[in-house]
Parts: sequence; C-alpha cells; structure tokens
Amino acid sequence: SPKLFIYDLDGVITDTAEFHYLAWKKLADELGIPIDRHFNEQLKGINRMDSLDRILGQATSPIDFSEQEKIGLATRKNGYYLELIEAINPNYILPGIGDFLEANKQSGIKIALGSASKNAARILDKLELTGYFDYIVNAAEITKGKPDPETFTAAADALNIPYSDCVGIEDAAAGVEAVNRAGMFSVGVGDDAHLSHADYLVGNTQELEFQKILDEFENN
Ligand code: BG6
Ligand code: MG
Ligand code: MG
Repeated sequence: SPKLFIYDLDGVITDTAEFHYLAWKKLADELGIPIDRHFNEQLKGINRMDSLDRILGQATSPIDFSEQEKIGLATRKNGYYLELIEAINPNYILPGIGDFLEANKQSGIKIALGSASKNAARILDKLELTGYFDYIVNAAEITKGKPDPETFTAAADALNIPYSDCVGIEDAAAGVEAVNRAGMFSVGVGDDAHLSHADYLVGNTQELEFQKILDEFENN
C-alpha cells in the first residue's frame, strides 16, 4: 500500500479557488483585461507570478510591465485575496474531506500538503487541520511550479519516501500532470474534460473513499 498521501489544498481541501478568481478578477478589471470563470480553469494550481503572466497574456493590446511592476500587481492581488480568506473557518472544509483525512490518519499512512500557495499554512490553520499533516511544502521554496513535479517530489523527499509509494490528490489539470510526472499515483477530483489524465478520477470530494483509493493503487 502507499506510504504517503500528498494533498493539494485549493479545490481539494477547501474551495479557495473561487476567492483566487475573485481577487484576480478585481485586479484584471482594474487593468482593463477581460477574464472569466472559463479562463480561470487555466489558473488552477498555477503559482502567483505564472498566473499573473497568463492574465497579462489575455490583454487585448499588449501591456509591458517591468518585473518590479509585476511584483506590485501580484502583491495587490494577494491583498485582495487575504481580505477574502479572512473569514475562513472549519465550515469551509469541502464535503467528505474531514472523514477522508481521519481515515488517512487512522491508517498510519503519512500525510503531506503539496500546494502552490504561499498562503497554504495560514489557510490550513484557519481550517484547524494543521495537526493532520506530517509535512507542509513551502511554496516559497519551490523553483518550478505545477505542472512541474517539484511540489510533489519535495514532499516525498522531505519524508524520505519513494515516489512510487505516493498518492497525489488534485483538482487541477496542471496538478494531475505534476503528480504523474513525479511518478506517483494521481487521484483527480473533478471533471473528465480537464482531468482525463488522472490514474483514478472522482467527480467531487464527497466521492473520495480512502479504502477505494488504496485498492486502485494496488491494481495500478
Ligand atoms: C494554488 C491555486 O493552490 O495556489 C492558484 O490553485 C494560486 O490559483 C496558487 O494562484 C498560488 O497561491 P498564492 O496564495 O501563493 O498566491
Ligand atoms: Mg487545486
Ligand atoms: Mg500516474
């Protein structure tokens, strides 16, 4: 059986994806750049600066920002985001995730967080879930964001666990790709249209069953 489960945060443990979208949307509106929820699918799992680049790429006429200006824009977005997540509490844990983490803990299999977000530890605290985690990847120390496998391999390396003994749970296309490229077993949460490359796919967090994933891992 696997030795480590690595969880994505945004869209798997809690639905902060909407708050990221609203914060980017506010910034994009200020810059006169049109973005919508459909485009937002391409931002899921993508780190802050890479997300900004993708948004600037949507401008109808090209805008040339210096690196310094871009950092300013990303910081402004994060300010909007921090306001939105201020009210997060354990009620924001997605359905089924509390029981799933509990089953994971009971099994003795290790638990890590592999989020691209620099706000991940703060959010986990607000959700009162920090105690479940054996390791939390520090997004600030990751040089290549998802779909690069580094976020996931960093968690396995820190806990000294072979990649083939790991399961990664993801809601983003870039995240599933990162798990696969790490040589880990990928569990997708969401739509087949975005996540058909997952080794095992469920429609939503409520459908996640710990024992079922252990079985699927063995059959892989
Ligand atoms: C990911 C989200 O978890 O974290 C992305 O899916 C987000 O939407 C990224 O851009 C970075 O988050 P933060 O909090 O560091 O800006
Ligand atoms: Mg996600
Ligand atoms: Mg795989």
